[in-house]
Amino acid sequence: MPAPFDLGAWSGERLARIERALSDWVVADAPAGLGEAMRYAVLDGGKRLRPLLVLAASEAVGGHDEAALRAGCAVELIHAYSLVHDDMPCMDDDVLRRGKPTVHVKFGQAQALLAGDALQALAFELLVPEAGVPDRVQAALCRLLARAAGHFGMAGGQAIDLASVGLALDEHQLREMHRRKTGALLEGSVMMGAACGSPPPEALRALQAYGAAIGLAFQVVDDILDVTADSATLGKTAGKDADQNKPTYVSVLGLERSRAYARELLEEARAALAASRLADTRALEALATMVVARDN
Ligand code: IPE
Ligand code: IPE
Ligand code: MG
Ligand code: MG
Ligand code: MG
Repeated sequence: MPAPFDLGAWSGERLARIERALSDWVVADAPAGLGEAMRYAVLDGGKRLRPLLVLAASEAVGGHDEAALRAGCAVELIHAYSLVHDDMPCMDDDVLRRGKPTVHVKFGQAQALLAGDALQALAFELLVPEAGVPDRVQAALCRLLARAAGHFGMAGGQAIDLASVGLALDEHQLREMHRRKTGALLEGSVMMGAACGSPPPEALRALQAYGAAIGLAFQVVDDILDVTADSATLGKTAGKDADQNKPTYVSVLGLERSRAYARELLEEARAALAASRLADTRALEALATMVVARDN
């Protein structure tokens, strides 16, 4: 029997590469303290799930390494910017993120707004180096990231989230909100990894189904952890959703059905990988398990 896949060993070296690249690319030389706020938002914290998904998907399709590293960092910058803005008083009004005071608490609201803006722009700059990544791949990565970050994805989902405070969403509406606000960037991470190579159409379809399933599962689990975990473990304020009267999987389905749904989505993700006919999807499978089994 082959040895079981060791996610810790697989991700260790990749996380080191991601952290190094993020630190190299997010330099502090932006004027008037903006660089400091940008680095604070990105470095020293975060599970780096999105870049790991990009690298795992790229490896599964034999993708271009430099493109995958750039894509992984780019999606992490968009994610970090979304967190900075999500925490601001006009959105979720949170004071704790990744175990530290939020960016607006530390640097002020205007600087937090600008740090988010600048991180978003930097993400796209990373995707278009003058050399080292084929133009066709650069264009595909930009298209995927723009689509996942904008009104079709994260920003659109965040708008629904804010418009839904105090409302009783049905399951369909809740799924739509979660697919956009969180699922889109995770599915986008998988598709960006795939775009670093040239997988056959059935593999691409399978990877998309895998990404959609874990993307939604991720926010179902985020909703569960908001209720079941403590702030120290989460590194962010627990109990926030009920406090702010947000519709979540827990408020709509209850804890047990939410857990069952997350497990169902994990099975969907596994089935998609099995249908992909890709030779080695063990890292993608282990990351999917981690999405559902995580405690922060
Ligand atoms: C938190 O994402 C925000 C959501 C999209 C639910 P993560 O749980 O991936 O946050 P970090 O990057 O590890 O801090
Ligand atoms: C945020 O969802 C998703 C983003 C696009 C940032 P949440 O508001 O539930 O994320 P947390 O719980 O603050 O990390
Ligand atoms: Mg929010
Ligand atoms: Mg929030
Ligand atoms: Mg949450």
